[in-house]
Amino acid sequence: MNKNEKDLSQEEDSQVQKETTRRGFLSTMGKIAVAAGLLGSGAGVEALSGCARESTPKSRLSASTAKMIVPPGKWDKYYGLWSGGPTGELRILGLPSMRELLRIPVFNTNTGIGYGPTGDNHSAKMLEDAGGYGLGDVHHPHFSFTKGDFDGRYAYAHDKANGRIARIRLDYFMTDAITSIPNVPAVHGLYPQRYPKTGYVFAASEFETPMPNDGRDIVPTGNNAAQTKNYWTLISAVDGETMKVKWQVMVDGNQDNMDTDYKGLYCMATCYNSSKGWNVPTMTKPPVMWAVFVNISRVEAAVKAGKYKTIGDSPVPVLDGRHGSNLTTYIPVEKDPHGISCTPDGKYAVANGKLAPKVTVIDLKKVGDVFEGKIKPKDAVAAILTVGVGPLHTVYDGRGNGYTTLFVDSQMVKWNIEDAIKAYNGDKKVKPIRQKLDVHYQPGHAAATQENTIHPTGEWLISLNKFSKDRFLPVGPRFPENDQLIDISGKKMVLTADNPVYIEPHQADIALVDRLKYIKQIFNPKYFANHVESGTENVKRVGPHRVIVRLTGVAPILTPVYFHCKEGDLITIIYSNNDTVENLSHGFLMTLHNVNLNINPGETKEITFLADRAGVHWYYCTIFCHALHLEMRGRMIVERVPGYKSRPIHSNRLKGEPSWNGLFKDFPGVGKA
Ligand code: CUA
Repeated sequence: MNKNEKDLSQEEDSQVQKETTRRGFLSTMGKIAVAAGLLGSGAGVEALSGCARESTPKSRLSASTAKMIVPPGKWDKYYGLWSGGPTGELRILGLPSMRELLRIPVFNTNTGIGYGPTGDNHSAKMLEDAGGYGLGDVHHPHFSFTKGDFDGRYAYAHDKANGRIARIRLDYFMTDAITSIPNVPAVHGLYPQRYPKTGYVFAASEFETPMPNDGRDIVPTGNNAAQTKNYWTLISAVDGETMKVKWQVMVDGNQDNMDTDYKGLYCMATCYNSSKGWNVPTMTKPPVMWAVFVNISRVEAAVKAGKYKTIGDSPVPVLDGRHGSNLTTYIPVEKDPHGISCTPDGKYAVANGKLAPKVTVIDLKKVGDVFEGKIKPKDAVAAILTVGVGPLHTVYDGRGNGYTTLFVDSQMVKWNIEDAIKAYNGDKKVKPIRQKLDVHYQPGHAAATQENTIHPTGEWLISLNKFSKDRFLPVGPRFPENDQLIDISGKKMVLTADNPVYIEPHQADIALVDRLKYIKQIFNPKYFANHVESGTENVKRVGPHRVIVRLTGVAPILTPVYFHCKEGDLITIIYSNNDTVENLSHGFLMTLHNVNLNINPGETKEITFLADRAGVHWYYCTIFCHALHLEMRGRMIVERVPGYKSRPIHSNRLKGEPSWNGLFKDFPGVGKA
């Protein structure tokens, strides 16, 4: 950091401290909580304008805090798409209120929404076909693009744990496809093509392995580089519409985060382990790190020309993009880069150093010159700027500024891109660092409103902080994370609100609400070949041990209210919700059979399960749909079959004893701690 930068940041720091000291902020938040509590209690606008405003006059709220409050009955301005880490799900939030609106199950089982093995046949089969894994680890969710802006068709998310990519429809907010990426155990970076549209969804594999990884090529473990010599990683391109893997490019090192440019020329990934180390010392040792750029049109031409091989049983073309290939270029960046992101004007890509306190600004026009052989890769670097310790990700406001998360410093640093380039070129008068703001604590990703499109709005920034420490009520050993809302509309960043979030968001996309333009609340019953018309409900035995039950729900009437079957029958429930009123979903839960469906207006769902317990089993609606919702239930009457071994209702329950008596020998508040 040069002297000027340091002086400026200290000066800025003290100013920010004055504006938003931690204690001062906490006391402000206490007041906000009063107002928010009233909002949440449904006390209404009158309450807010009456008692809440009296006890917390608007003049005593910061302008930013006043701006984030969305009054009862009003809608947020933005949709946020959040990842859920190892919960395997996505979440939809409203911004600036930060209210969570929906959880979308993707790689997980969600018993509330009826997704996965305990839900409908479609999602259960989709998960089974995608490897049958019971979990996923979602890091980087993104909206689809057309001409550099969100187009509201799809969201994509990857599963780092099992090398998969999922597509979520943004008309019904439902996962509709999952693709397993061949030849890779795990994908980390994911980014959709921005231009002309998505198009490709790119995924970078992080963990190097032999290829094929089937045990034929294992070097005995030892403390030397030979053991990982034959390990490689791939950057994969999936067609976002067919969800088929189109091609893969083998690259050097291991890949981290990804991005795409605004012209449809490149996808790019950072590499934090260029020499393929296998433990912390060997992974962090190499002095040269890079961002690899893949030239999309050259790869397409090479595939067309048949210049590829395939690996193992996979038919997907694999091209060689390692050093020396003309399909890729490796631009040197500061040490152990993490995030990489293109500026909304399409001019630059910024890579964040992680282990160096610096960001590297890459000139995308010059990357073209590198591919043409006109300049060396290092000459595409437009600036290196010292920003603070532990830079992980940079986002933008559309006014020429970058906002970089500093994991170690627990800060958000605002800096100016053109000034950074001037300073790098020797101009000693410019001070690229505009402000450093304390965040709480250890930020990973950041997200700003519309920032990763050609139409950034520069209103709000989220610092996705990994640690919340002292910010919330204690809830045992597992703390929530803290996604802090920061107002970036003015000259200074203003810390506006703390928001606890459940395990474990990595990244978010934030879109203006009008970008999600295809949203529907009611299904067209004709979508479903198995739709059950009201009046045609029936129960049919179609085989010796096979029964199909066709039901309908029209609140509060469930038809039929009973059916007979025998022990050992495989039962398929086909349930049509024939209510055509929005917000009127029904549930179908079969007691003691691990079955719960959600059936939305106009929708038909199927679930198949084994009736392996003689007796009377009630099924009931799980969604509060009517004043007579509790009455919306019926019976499955399972006849005893001589010789059939009926599955007992939990054996411990028959004995009336707990299944397992306590986690530890002591009890809270009793005896020894
Ligand atoms: Cu249908 Cu509750």
